[in-house]
Amino acid sequence: MALLHILFGSQTGNAQNLAHQISQELDQSGIESLVMDMGEVDPESIHHFKNILIVTSTYGDGEAPDNASDWMSYLKFADELNLSHLNYSVLGLGDTYYPFFCQCGKDFDHYLSKHGGHSLVPRIDCDLYYEEQYGPWLNELIKVLKDRSRE
Ligand SMILES: Cc1cc2nc3c(=O)[nH]c(=O)nc-3n(C[C@H](O)[C@H](O)[C@H](O)COP(=O)(O)O)c2cc1C
Repeated sequence: MALLHILFGSQTGNAQNLAHQISQELDQSGIESLVMDMGEVDPESIHHFKNILIVTSTYGDGEAPDNASDWMSYLKFADELNLSHLNYSVLGLGDTYYPFFCQCGKDFDHYLSKHGGHSLVPRIDCDLYYEEQYGPWLNELIKVLKDRSRE
């Protein structure tokens, strides 16, 4: 099984591309990952995942992109959901021009935590020019995943 499942929510491809870029960078560090389109994965699969990274943009007025909306509804309304088996992180992609900056990523983070998921590394909210903050965040993720693979 892949060490990290990278699930992307994307309307026009930016978050999708970034998800693949992250996967390649992890690969170069010897970390196995699998990129998946949230629109093609049943949200109930979350019970089978151990480590996930959600890479998602935000659309409308702070809403999920279309392919991530089923996941958002599932996490929002599944009251009895227990995700204490799950380690996760979230990369939100957005634009500070909009009042609900990276809201979809923030909401995923909130619901995953609310249902008992454990944060691998804190969420990052990425504006249009995010390279400066993204590098250190990815390095931290790599470090944490490497430590876990040794456990
Ligand atoms: C119609 C529209 C609505 C948007 N709404 C938001 C928003 O509410 N919050 C935000 O942070 N970014 C918002 N964005 C910016 C996108 O999240 C950003 O362009 C992102 O890079 C798109 O990634 P994607 O191609 O993976 O969907 C919006 C963009 C468009 C075109």
